[in-house]
Amino acid sequence: MRLENNTILITGGSVGIGFAFAKYFSKNNNVIICGRDLSRLEAAKKSVPSLNIYKCDISKKDECDELFNIISKEHPQVNVLINNAGIQKEIRILEGNVDIDEVDINFKGTIYLSILFAKFILNKPNAAIINISSGLAFVPSAIFPIYCATKAGIHSFTMSLRRQLQDKNVEVIEVIPPMVHDTFLKGKPIERNERSISTTELLEEVINGLKENKVEIPVGATKYMIENSKKDINSAFEQMNKNFVF
Ligand SMILES: NC(=O)c1ccc[n+]([C@@H]2O[C@H](COP(=O)([O-])OP(=O)(O)OC[C@H]3O[C@@H](n4cnc5c(N)ncnc54)[C@H](OP(=O)(O)O)[C@@H]3O)[C@@H](O)[C@H]2O)c1
Repeated sequence: MRLENNTILITGGSVGIGFAFAKYFSKNNNVIICGRDLSRLEAAKKSVPSLNIYKCDISKKDECDELFNIISKEHPQVNVLINNAGIQKEIRILEGNVDIDEVDINFKGTIYLSILFAKFILNKPNAAIINISSGLAFVPSAIFPIYCATKAGIHSFTMSLRRQLQDKNVEVIEVIPPMVHDTFLKGKPIERNERSISTTELLEEVINGLKENKVEIPVGATKYMIENSKKDINSAFEQMNKNFVF
């Protein structure tokens, strides 16, 4: 993917991984970010004044349509979509209420925007859609059952999207992060631990992958996950989940 002179929409670009991307790309690109919380968007713009900010909840179809209409008018040159917005919840299936927000945000919102923008960026120079999945798409952590399912779904959808667009001049790329600290994915800051990496380390590997024109960019510990056989996945699953009692 070309790394400069693009107009890039990043969903969920106000904090965490999305903001790290927004900051990096804003040096040589026109960058648009969206999110639900206006104060977080304004804080991002205060830190990086060139950012264009739009309030949008991607789990709501009408808000996605409105975002698309505004961007196609105000930034008709948009040629890259980074589907980054996501949430993660601990869910004990036998306890509490049924809450499937993750499906609406991580899965439905991402797919809906991909379809809307795929048609719009078709045949634009250097068009690309980048979907952020997760290592947990490949080896689920059972404490995040819906999150892992949405990310597995995004991996599958991204493969199909790439196939359907392969002759249409739109690159379709999947970024597969491991645990990343200094993010708020669980609704509170994820702290550094022996398995996590920083947003800076993630960004460096992703940019290298984009420069090498990779279509799947597994980062850090996720590299072995995507190459696992079914037997390896079963054993990695047991290992990952051995400390949880449900
Ligand atoms: N952090 C990790 O360890 C990790 C690992 C693997 C994959 N990932 C993936 O990386 C992506 C970014 O995660 P992160 O860790 O950077 O999370 P984060 O720090 O919580 O940032 C998430 C961003 O998405 C926005 N967002 C959430 N729900 C939204 C919605 N309905 N509509 C629009 N924007 C929304 C948030 O802003 P508002 O709350 O204001 O809407 C925020 O800007 C996610 O897809 C996540 O699954 C993260």
